[in-house]
Amino acid sequence: GKGDGEMPEKVKPSFSENATRVLERRYLLKDEKGSPTETPEEMLWRVARAVAKAEERFDDEQSPEYWAERFYEVMAQLDFLPNSPTLMNAGTPAGQLSACFVLPIGDSMEEIFDALKYTALVHKSGGGTGFNFSTLRPYGDIVRSTKGVASGPVSFMELFDHTTDVVKQGGMRRGANMGILNADHPDVIRFIKAKIEEGKLKNFNISIGATHKFMHAVLNDEDWQLLNPRTGEVVESIKARYLFDLICEMAWRTGDPGMVFLDRIDELNPTPNLGHITATNPCGEQPLLPFESCNLGSINLSNMVSPKREIDWDKLEETVRVAVRFLDDVIEVNHFPIKEIAEMTKATRKIGLGVMGWADVLFKVRIPYDSEEALQLARKVMSFINKIGYEESSNLARIRGPFPAWKGSKWEESGVLMRNATVTTIAPTGTISLVADASSGIEPAFALAYRRKAFEGTANLDYVNEILLDALKEEGLYTEALIEEILGKGSLKDINLPEGLKKVFVTAHEIAPEWHVKMQAAFQEFTDNAVSKTINLPHEASVEDVKKAFLSAYELGCKGITVFRDRCKEDQVLYVGTKP
Ligand code: CDP
Repeated sequence: GKGDGEMPEKVKPSFSENATRVLERRYLLKDEKGSPTETPEEMLWRVARAVAKAEERFDDEQSPEYWAERFYEVMAQLDFLPNSPTLMNAGTPAGQLSACFVLPIGDSMEEIFDALKYTALVHKSGGGTGFNFSTLRPYGDIVRSTKGVASGPVSFMELFDHTTDVVKQGGMRRGANMGILNADHPDVIRFIKAKIEEGKLKNFNISIGATHKFMHAVLNDEDWQLLNPRTGEVVESIKARYLFDLICEMAWRTGDPGMVFLDRIDELNPTPNLGHITATNPCGEQPLLPFESCNLGSINLSNMVSPKREIDWDKLEETVRVAVRFLDDVIEVNHFPIKEIAEMTKATRKIGLGVMGWADVLFKVRIPYDSEEALQLARKVMSFINKIGYEESSNLARIRGPFPAWKGSKWEESGVLMRNATVTTIAPTGTISLVADASSGIEPAFALAYRRKAFEGTANLDYVNEILLDALKEEGLYTEALIEEILGKGSLKDINLPEGLKKVFVTAHEIAPEWHVKMQAAFQEFTDNAVSKTINLPHEASVEDVKKAFLSAYELGCKGITVFRDRCKEDQVLYVGTKP
């Protein structure tokens, strides 16, 4: 390393045009007039240096300057990117670097409005928040002090929703929330229908908190009791299947609610010594304890394929090691929005290393997304990342010490020293995948090609998947006419091409829902936290298909599930105001 703090010149990032636009709009620091005061390279160097500052605290063979350069390299090569808040805020006075938070809510005015305040502070700092509202007494329940009646969880959620509207994240983007209500809360039906009207709770993803007991009651067609959380009394008894059918029907109509399998999450809680996990972050991939936060980062798997069209395991290993160190360093230099969050986060030191570009990999190695071979490769890749991630966290623990709540944790039970209570999480990578020009998370490709009108309709802006273009050229199939046809159709389904090629280059809606679920489960098997995945259903899918997807997600060991039926919101307008 040069050690003089200057930007390394070995690696020049090559951002796509689209990526540059995203960076300019969302990430680059700006002056009062809104013009960028840094280039994309300078942004990465700002982040690398700010994060590597943590290295000054530890005795490592390599210098902090060395690590700043390594961090810069992996980002500039687009091999690894941290979550958006790290890119936006590292090395700035704000300095809040995590995407994921969970806040507790108690059943009193004071506690509810404290949580609202914390939410505003977290959003302002760039994070998203998740809550379990089941502690709140139901709608119509008594409020002793005022002799009034309670508004119930859904009304209070509207308050959080509105706050989210008002407080933009770091002035850059709108915050996101996860609202969970357990299946046995008396307001559960109200909750399931809470998003049926367009625009309601628009800053919330909502999910039903489902225990094993609930899922078994559904599977065995048993009765199900709704309990007042304030008194523990049974308020009503209904059929578990009635509730489940309603959940699935609403999910079919609007995409909400999803389900989170709470017992499974809590069974895998690495620190039961600190309490129970009852909620996740906004997109569901990060279960957390109350007041805990987590910083994420994702490896661009598309860059881990060798020219021989095989996974480059050595490169992947090296990238995982640098990424784990990077994410652990982030916790050191992070500025937390409130004291409670700083304390909880530093007790467990959770990090969430995941992947993006999975669909790109499958295109490159020519394996169809909806195949056993793809599931096998998914398990191989993710188990490798998880294993190397553990090794690296363990190495760090030997030098830096284990996470403070290690004593009494499941890690202590199994005799493994760890710096981080969790290491892996599969994030959606909604924005960072645009920056890396990779397919998002583990999702299949949405379209292989599309044509957009540009310059006020006077010109076409064409996008054709680059890996497909390469494949067509390699196979000697490339012609201008063929590209025109692909642009027109967006997928290869109805085009006269070799079947093998068509099987590989599939898009999200051509993939049967069960394969979406199987892929999620394959990654979940080797992921500490959870997996962000949308089970995409074709427009014609039935409520029955949604039920099947939910049940198989439960059976296959997923921690939660979200479905989205293509263009469901188009019919939604017709349903507004009608009873489900
Ligand atoms: O790609 P990027 O790092 O921007 O984020 P992502 O992987 O799409 O989302 C990761 C997490 O960031 C989400 O689960 C939320 O916790 C948080 N997030 C948020 O708070 N607000 C948003 N508008 C988007 C994401």
